[in-house]
Amino acid sequence: MVENKHVLVAGGTSGINLGIAKGFAAAGAKVSVFSRKQDKVDAAVAALGAKAHGGIADVREPEQVKAAIAAAAEAQGPIDVLVSGAAGNFLAPAVAMSPNAFGSVVGIDLNGTFHVLRFAFEHLNKPGASIINISAPQAWVPMIAQAHVCAAKAGVDMLTKTLAMEWGPAGVRVNSLVPGPIEGTEGMDRLLVDKSKKQALAKTVPLQRLGQVEDCADVALFLASDAARYVSGVVLPVDGGWSLGGATIAMGQMFS
Ligand code: COA
Ligand code: NAP
Repeated sequence: MVENKHVLVAGGTSGINLGIAKGFAAAGAKVSVFSRKQDKVDAAVAALGAKAHGGIADVREPEQVKAAIAAAAEAQGPIDVLVSGAAGNFLAPAVAMSPNAFGSVVGIDLNGTFHVLRFAFEHLNKPGASIINISAPQAWVPMIAQAHVCAAKAGVDMLTKTLAMEWGPAGVRVNSLVPGPIEGTEGMDRLLVDKSKKQALAKTVPLQRLGQVEDCADVALFLASDAARYVSGVVLPVDGGWSLGGATIAMGQMFS
């Protein structure tokens, strides 16, 4: 269903986002990625195969985002599927955060998502384009030492809902995909400081296991597909039920 469609993944050079990019590439899509670091972009493009395109941009910089998206559209055609997943995170109580520390995460996660969607809009293949914002359970589960991420991702989900309303008439669907605790990722590594607690963390998930990047990639494929043609403005957890309560338990017992 996505064969030869152009899928652009902002921040698609490692972890969950790269896993999502790989899922689309395996399904036959032309995949473009961009992020800040040339070595990561080069490695991702090599892993994504012959139809991949790579670019460099910091999502906090509107002009860089605008240029990277225009270059991807020039190289691969109008964008059918846009995934916005660039993010930053570290554990820090609010009183240990400088304004720049708080602002750097809000700047990447929230402002960055706005920049990506704003400048991609004119390059979307409309009607029929699908946008997937990568959010986090912190958007509605308050977590200690995560004030920046909680605020930023709550904003991302409101952008999802607002733009689903604004852009629906143009035939553009906008949804949030919310990964739970995904094994082997930078985000998980930064939160689970004591690695011996990994099994205990898995037990806080109703489905009794940590997630895999492929769990997210499969749901991204669904959200981009015709099977989801009447789905817009949703915030869809891919977390084994973790955000129903386990995430709060984990915060108190594991993430400290
Ligand atoms: N506790 C408190 N403050 C911290 C911090 C920590 N653990 N880590 C960084 N900061 C502060 C810095 O001190 C700086 O503030 P200052 O200028 O007042 O000193 C501010 O955050 C920005 O840090 P800097 O390293 O200059 O920013 P950057 O733009 O190079 O990197 C980050 C952004 C901090 C988000 C960095 O962790 C990053 O690039 N992350 C991407 C990967 C990632 O987080 N993956 C997981 C996704 S869920
Ligand atoms: P990751 O591997 O660190 O992925 C982050 C990606 O964003 C990288 O490709 C990084 O590449 C890019 N990036 C970071 N800052 C950027 C910037 N300023 N401009 C452009 N690109 C930037 O992290 P991950 O853990 O897989 O997380 C991926 C997404 O899933 C994030 O949106 C995160 O919030 C979400 N999530 C993760 C988990 C989890 O368990 N890991 C749980 C919930 C939600 P460069 O370094 O080259 O810029």
